Amino acid sequence: MLILHALRELTKGDAIAVRGTHPNLAIDLTGWCRRRGLPVIEKQGEHYVSWRGFERQRWVQAHRCGLSDARAPSAIRDHASPAWGVAARGALVEAGGPAFHFPLSDKTAVWAEDAARLYAQALANQWDPNTAIDWEQPFTLPDEVEDAVVQVMTYLVENENAALSVPARFLSQMHPHFREVQQMLAVTIADEARHVEVFTRRLGLRDRTPGLSTAGGQASLKSLFDADEFSVASFLLSVLGEGTFVNLLNFLHLNAPDPVTAQICRLAAKDEARHVAFGMSHVEWHLRRDRDLTLRLRRAVEQRHEALAGTEGLNEEVFDALVLIAAGAFTVEAVEQGYRRVEQLKQEMAEGRRARLMKLGFPPAEATELAAKHTRNFM
Ligand SMILES: [Fe+2]
Ligand SMILES: [Fe+2]
Repeated sequence: MLILHALRELTKGDAIAVRGTHPNLAIDLTGWCRRRGLPVIEKQGEHYVSWRGFERQRWVQAHRCGLSDARAPSAIRDHASPAWGVAARGALVEAGGPAFHFPLSDKTAVWAEDAARLYAQALANQWDPNTAIDWEQPFTLPDEVEDAVVQVMTYLVENENAALSVPARFLSQMHPHFREVQQMLAVTIADEARHVEVFTRRLGLRDRTPGLSTAGGQASLKSLFDADEFSVASFLLSVLGEGTFVNLLNFLHLNAPDPVTAQICRLAAKDEARHVAFGMSHVEWHLRRDRDLTLRLRRAVEQRHEALAGTEGLNEEVFDALVLIAAGAFTVEAVEQGYRRVEQLKQEMAEGRRARLMKLGFPPAEATELAAKHTRNFM
């Protein structure tokens, strides 16, 4: 430390004398200097280290990843180099380090203008399931209604599992240079982990076992894992799927037969609205730079629609459970009303998808068509 400090004070051409009492001083000093490309001269038992290119040798090939002012918007580069590795954005990276392979290294393919803002918003709105939800609130439901809630919770957990795993897959592929997007994905995954928890807890609140998981529902979710492009996956999962889920969770919040279900659905819906906003912001960004993405998004919806054509879509048990939850009772009038509410929900979902598609620049007729082709499983 003392030698480095003294060397930094030197002007070119000068040398410092190094004195010490350790018997190995000469050997250690020579080795230390050689690693740094510094010449050591021995004169009458004294050791002199000269400035000559100090620190320049080592850093001559080094490069900044982004700009040194890491906060400037222009500090974010269009392409992040594998050689930057996991260095902090703006750091001076020594040459000769390992190259990291991050498949998502182009700003066009990952960026979202709202990522930093939505990440901050997400942090400010985190909630603790233990304190935000009053699990002890007394309520009693008829057996059939409790069964319906359990079936819906079973369905929600499986959808949340997919919503957690799909972004997690892309997170590990993303170059850390785009840290705002990484942070937003990370907090989104934490949100989904919490959703899995609260729906699982409500499911078991009255000691019921989980309900049914259908092949059709799983096929729909599996197709989200098959989307290889981050933007396409965000579009299917967030813009279309989670957007539709916001409607579903708001519906469950309003029609919940018990206060716990109402609370957890309200809190989850707020998180989901943020996930949708992030998906919109990213797809909007990418579309502005790559008009061909429109075709890939369209093809993805159509292919998914064709692949799922043979499946049942939303399983009957979930549909009936939603009707019963909205009905609140097992009478002809109540079930009729519940059915009408669920049909209205499906209409609101389709209208919401259409509005988001139009916001992304799809013409009205195409937006209507694609909104209708979205999976009947909702996610
Ligand atoms: Fe979620
Ligand atoms: Fe989500």
